[in-house]
Amino acid sequence: MVSSLVPNILLFDSGVGGLSVYREIHRLLPNHNYFYLFDNEGYPYGELSQQELLSRVETLVTSIVTEMDIDLVVIACNTASTIVLPTLRKKLSIPVVGVVPAIKPACNLARKSVGLIATPATIRRPYTHELIRDFSCNKEVYLLGSTELVDIAEHKLRGDSVDMEQLSHILQPVRGRVDVAVLGCTHFPLLRGEIQQVLGNEVVLVDSGKAIAKRVESLVSPLMCRHIPGKHRIFSSTFPFKEKALNQILSGWGFNRVERFPIPDFSDR
Ligand code: DGL
Repeated sequence: MVSSLVPNILLFDSGVGGLSVYREIHRLLPNHNYFYLFDNEGYPYGELSQQELLSRVETLVTSIVTEMDIDLVVIACNTASTIVLPTLRKKLSIPVVGVVPAIKPACNLARKSVGLIATPATIRRPYTHELIRDFSCNKEVYLLGSTELVDIAEHKLRGDSVDMEQLSHILQPVRGRVDVAVLGCTHFPLLRGEIQQVLGNEVVLVDSGKAIAKRVESLVSPLMCRHIPGKHRIFSSTFPFKEKALNQILSGWGFNRVERFPIPDFSDR
């Protein structure tokens, strides 16, 4: 029956962060097929040069789109989205949705000041500074770039406990100074409870997950519904660390074991 066919949706990130976006999309669209590719060989994206990041994302995403017959792509990574979207949209004929830091809603909510917690690269990007310039409404925006925080989320998704003292130390620059904090890296909603505990319950935490899910829902068209449902496949560009522990946690998210999707011909670039 044609009505039971579904689209193939791809989520892409450097690591497990995109799962926070997947969670919101899956909540709205539970019956679709999901493919998740993480470029752990290029991780952490927050420390990569712009050129390398562009090249890796473009190569990986365009290859998997062809190979898995994808209908819609979500770049579930702020660090990548702030630079790769124009190129990818030119290369692909399917919708490409990106995730950028939720500066605008955060500044609308804030009474005094906002903290932007993101990767070091996102903090530096002109795109981010334009968002702040255009939407901060004269509220002070404190910037905090941290790869350590991304690492903590990666470890949490392998079953490791979060070191709250380390977390307090990392969040020190925004602690007590802001009433709204933007989780400007998709890894950070995976640490929402812990970050809330450190910053205090009075601080509102904002991320882009729900808005992205709504955007995806609005872009899914009947033409995309052409695949047999039931696919939840996850791929990595190289062997993930603590793979067994990761697979165990991923099965709770409804995914099969991590499969390999290495960069095609990347060494020949
Ligand atoms: N999850 C990514 C983001 O939203 C990037 C993390 C990293 O690899 O540095 O920015």
